[in-house]
Amino acid sequence: MKIFVATHNAHKLREIAQILPAFEVVPDDPAGVVEDADTFSGNALVKVRAIAARHAGAWCMADDSGLEVAALGGAPGVRSARYAGEPSDTSANNALLLKNLQGVEDRRANFTCAVALVSPDGAESVVEGRCFGAIALAPSGAEGFGYDPLFVPDGRDRSFAELAAEEKNAISHRGRALAKVRALIESGRCRGLARPAADG
Ligand code: IMP
Repeated sequence: MKIFVATHNAHKLREIAQILPAFEVVPDDPAGVVEDADTFSGNALVKVRAIAARHAGAWCMADDSGLEVAALGGAPGVRSARYAGEPSDTSANNALLLKNLQGVEDRRANFTCAVALVSPDGAESVVEGRCFGAIALAPSGAEGFGYDPLFVPDGRDRSFAELAAEEKNAISHRGRALAKVRALIESGRCRGLARPAADG
């Protein structure tokens, strides 16, 4: 089954294809869409609506995700991609995160992934997945992307960037959100719950 995915992020796309192997994952860049919602769900909906308008009768989805650090009041949050400013710069983001956590003992954090889904009949739904862990004192590992070298999931002593892709996907925010997506698609249609959440 084909599913259109609103992203230009090759890393996300690779993970989505790994987690949904039964689907033909087709990227469609939601270029020009302004992601100015203050929630992951809101931004995911804006993105999926932009591409669903081009693919009537098909499954479409968008992932909006980021890192929330307890001691920073949930930052970088929805600004994760551009934490250190525009244009998005992963090294600068990670360096700023470490700087802002210098001397901070409470390093608890979680990744959140919201996936907005539009079914072939146009119904919308949003699901979320979270992965809890802590921010390391220094980066380690070369796998993954974004903040992966700094994020150590609970129950592990290695960062996301030190885990094999299957290990990360089995416990990650994206893996958890996409397991719900898979269940929704297998049920035949979305639940149609998204609009109130998006408008509210
Ligand atoms: P988005 O494309 O607006 O959803 O931005 C997502 C940003 O959150 C990415 O650019 C990363 O900085 C961060 N992020 C989201 N998911 C992950 C992940 O799985 N690993 C590391 N960083 C992530």
